[in-house]
Formats: sequence, structure tokens, C-alpha cells
Amino acid sequence: MAFNTTRRAMLAGSGAAVALTQAPGAHAQSTGAGGGTPPSSMPVSFTVNGTAAELELDTRVTLLDALREHLELTGTKKGCDHGQCGACTVMVNGTRINSCLSLAVQHQGDEITTIEGLGTPEDLHPMQAAFVKHDGYQCGYCTPGQICSAVATLAEIRAGIPSHVQGDITAAPVFNAAELRERMSGNICRCGAYSNIVEAITEVANSDLGAA
Ligand code: FES
Ligand code: FES
Repeated sequence: MAFNTTRRAMLAGSGAAVALTQAPGAHAQSTGAGGGTPPSSMPVSFTVNGTAAELELDTRVTLLDALREHLELTGTKKGCDHGQCGACTVMVNGTRINSCLSLAVQHQGDEITTIEGLGTPEDLHPMQAAFVKHDGYQCGYCTPGQICSAVATLAEIRAGIPSHVQGDITAAPVFNAAELRERMSGNICRCGAYSNIVEAITEVANSDLGAA
């Protein structure tokens, strides 16, 4: 059969396709792989700082919003909401993630640790105490994410997880300035408290990892 579509028909067809993808509610009307309509909300249960949480959430709610808006754990901050600043860093099953980039309903059964789970004002985690001692903040908005990321950074080095700045990724990583800059590069401080943040993390690393 000859291909007999006119340029006018082609443009009309592509315009209709664009209109369909941009139509309000088009996303909600899409069908799942099985042909059914995806649910708009789902139950999810996970553990946050050792406490079980059971929620019924819109499937579009991020882990960050579930923590802040549904569980009222506002220690985890929303900076960019686009995975670019690290303010929302939490640990999931011991691994740090940007909670603004992760849907809450993906975390069924997970163990989540936020800044509130690391220590208390009366009994600070060593990393929290080091940030206070070295004045590793100004406004403090990035600080929960910085501390969660720093704790996970040392755990990654301890576990032998390589980074992009290692010459030999088969060798055990060591703590040094280049490793620290690389591993903490996803955590931005708009106040520029970096020199004191580095001092705080280095002090804990020296005591935890025996770094020079
Ligand atoms: Fe998640 Fe900025 S709020 S990376
Ligand atoms: Fe203000 Fe880091 S202390 S953004």
C-alpha cells in the first residue's frame, strides 16, 4: 500500500498527539501494563527511626513529603525538590538518598533514618556534636542533609564502596580531602559553611576511620 499521507494530515496528527499528552488529566487516565487504571492512592508501611509507620498515600507523594507532611518529621528539609541540593537526604536501609526524588509508596518494608533518628538534643550523634563544635552551619537549612550524608559517607568508606575519584576502584577507599569533596558534592550549602563542615566531618572520620 502506498504511503499517501499529506503534509497537512501529518501536522494535524502530530498536533493531536501533543494535545493528548498535554491534556489535563491525561496522566490520570493512562492505563497500567495490565490495562487497568492505576490506583491513585496506596497503603504503605515502613519504619522511620525505629518506629513503624502505616500510611495511605497518593501514589505521587514523595518520601520527603510523606516524612514532613504526613509524619511531621520536619527535620528533613525541602530545598530544591529536584535532586540538586541534598537538603532532603535521608538513609534508607543504610543508604543515603534524596528523598525528594523517591516516591513514598516505593518504600514498603524499608527502614528509614532521618536526622531525628540519629541523636537527640541531650544525646547528640557524634556527627551532630562535631557540627556544633566546629560551627558547621549558618542558617542551618542544609544541615540535616549534610549530617545524614556525612554519616553515610563514612559508612560507605568503611564498607569499601569506591568513589569516582579513586585511581584504583578495586582498592579499599580511604578518607581524604578528595574523597570528602566527591562524596559530599551532592550537598549544597548556600551559606558557604563548607570549611567548617569539612572540619566537622574530618574530626569524626579521624576518630571513626583512623584517617590521617
Ligand atoms: Fe531534594 Fe534538594 S530537596 S535534593
Ligand atoms: Fe545555610 Fe547551609 S548553613 S544553607
